[in-house]
Amino acid sequence: MQIQGQAALVTGGASGLGEATARELARLGAKVAVLDRNAELAEKVAADIGGVACPCDITDAASVTAALEKAAAAHGPARILMNVAGIGSAKRVVQRDGSAAPLEDFVRVININLIGSYNVSRLFAAACSKLPVLDNGERGVMMFTASVAAFDGQVGQQAYSASKAGLAGMTLPMARDLAQHAIRVCTVAPGLFATPLMKELPEAVQQSLAASIPFPPRLGKPEEFAELACHIVTNGHLNGEVIRLDGALRMAPR
Ligand SMILES: NC(=O)c1ccc[n+]([C@@H]2O[C@H](COP(=O)([O-])OP(=O)(O)OC[C@H]3O[C@@H](n4cnc5c(N)ncnc54)[C@H](O)[C@@H]3O)[C@@H](O)[C@H]2O)c1
Repeated sequence: MQIQGQAALVTGGASGLGEATARELARLGAKVAVLDRNAELAEKVAADIGGVACPCDITDAASVTAALEKAAAAHGPARILMNVAGIGSAKRVVQRDGSAAPLEDFVRVININLIGSYNVSRLFAAACSKLPVLDNGERGVMMFTASVAAFDGQVGQQAYSASKAGLAGMTLPMARDLAQHAIRVCTVAPGLFATPLMKELPEAVQQSLAASIPFPPRLGKPEEFAELACHIVTNGHLNGEVIRLDGALRMAPR
């Protein structure tokens, strides 16, 4: 699908990989709606790229419905959805004091990363399925953001890895399900990227993480993620696939 002129939704578009994706889509001519729970940053990014900010919580059906309505009122119906919003977490199953990890932490990560992404996708897909097909036979395309932790999660990453493995597992059935509506579905599994979260770590830790990547031995640039996200939109034969973007990184146990 050509990006020029299309309406696109980017969750997590206020920061990091989502922000880079929103900026690249806008640079390529899309009308971009920034969906994020950080309203202030969402407004800032949207103003920068001539898009619209649609503050929302991806886990909340009413909140996402209102955000999609605001986006559609500003740009028309969306044919592109980039699910990038997510949170990290690290928690040992058995805590230092011998107690079990709190269940709420596990539930919160699954709720945002997995259920939240599904929530936005189902609402986007239902609206997109009603649009006329484009000249190339497509109606729409959506992307999920997993992580290499879906495959080689580290100590303490049970919740995070399970949430991201859930997205990887959902990719093919979602693509098969939405094939009848001519909507493609792909997932990107990033390795280690230089986002605000990562930049908060001490320089020495960042360098040691970067050195663990076979090639290139540096953190990924958010622009490289955005480039792949946009390629998924333009390459009409990419569907039902989980693509690692990690410089051949395989995470060690800790
Ligand atoms: N940075 C990395 O190295 C890396 C590696 C693998 C996967 N990822 C994944 O990429 C995605 C983006 O990560 P990032 O590093 O850019 O993080 P980030 O913290 O910079 O951006 C995440 C954005 O998601 C938003 N968000 C979180 N929960 C939300 C909710 N419930 N509703 C709406 N918005 C919400 C936040 O406000 C934030 O703006 C995440 O899903 C993360 O798991 C990142």
